[in-house]
Amino acid sequence: MEMLRAEELCFSYPAGEGEARVPVLDHVNLTIEKGSIVAVLGHNGSGKSTLAKQFNAVYLPSGGKMWVEQFDTANEAVLLEIRRRVGMVFQNPDNQIVANVVEEDVAFAPENLGVSTEEIRRRVDDALAAVGMSDFTRHAPHLLSGGQKQRVAIAGVLAMEPECIVLDEATAMLDPRGRRDVLDTVRRLNRDKGMTVVMITHHMDEAELADRVVVLNHGQVYLDGAPKEIFQQVKQLRSIGLTVPETVKLLYDLHQEGMDVLLSAISVEECADAVCRALQACGVEESVSERENERGTNYQS
Ligand SMILES: Nc1ncnc2c1ncn2[C@@H]1O[C@H](COP(=O)(O)OP(=O)(O)OP(=O)(O)O)[C@@H](O)[C@H]1O
Ligand SMILES: [Mg+2]
Repeated sequence: MEMLRAEELCFSYPAGEGEARVPVLDHVNLTIEKGSIVAVLGHNGSGKSTLAKQFNAVYLPSGGKMWVEQFDTANEAVLLEIRRRVGMVFQNPDNQIVANVVEEDVAFAPENLGVSTEEIRRRVDDALAAVGMSDFTRHAPHLLSGGQKQRVAIAGVLAMEPECIVLDEATAMLDPRGRRDVLDTVRRLNRDKGMTVVMITHHMDEAELADRVVVLNHGQVYLDGAPKEIFQQVKQLRSIGLTVPETVKLLYDLHQEGMDVLLSAISVEECADAVCRALQACGVEESVSERENERGTNYQS
């Protein structure tokens, strides 16, 4: 089942006087299935945030169509239906916190949707539990760490009980620990609640956890496929200013040097395994362990 579908989607920002409008989204065709995790990559200005804002009708198409389930985002009458289904989390957690107490912050959006008081209590508790922040209900958001604030921001979106959550570089301002917390949270929401996740990111290694990677370039879909497929296209990615995960880079460089390594290994474990296998295949490991033995003998003697 489809969650989001862009059909020949075009968009340009209003141009200054006498200037031509530059297309920022240029005939994008993209379907995002319910329950999937999709990473969207692309260099600065490739149109990622603009596309994300089409997903919950912050911007409307200049051409083509944007569908959220069966709802056409251009239809004003269904705006609330769309906003209920697709929640957005942005880069800077400080800009997303609106109240002085965590639970009030999380309650803000459902209150605005006219949800009943008991229902709000349940949703706030559920949302804070889902992001692992139940112990911080009465805390002041501004005293939390970046990662914790971002998790509160996510809880605020979850309290609207959306089917789909769009994270626009939501981990960009976080330290590695905060990033990991947010990514773990997102992965759990996908696994436990079947939530559709669209993750816009500059971090290649974040894209590893996606089912699918979409690469944008100049407002067009440049590559679209499973992470393993996409990251093997090192040359194409580099040609549009993207780097590949460190693991892929290592394997690619070894391959360029003539080593017969598996190029589809992305995680650190897979990569280490691929290198070990390749070394074994060319007999290096044997000589390494022989040397280790020799050294051991020498040391003992
Ligand atoms: N509000 C705006 N008014 C005019 N032009 C804009 C506006 N927002 C973005 N643009 C332009 O649209 C293009 C796409 O911007 P967008 O923010 O969607 O890219 P992005 O891929 O999210 O970039 P980044 O990686 O820097 O976040 C850029 O050329 C940008 O300058
Ligand atoms: Mg952006």
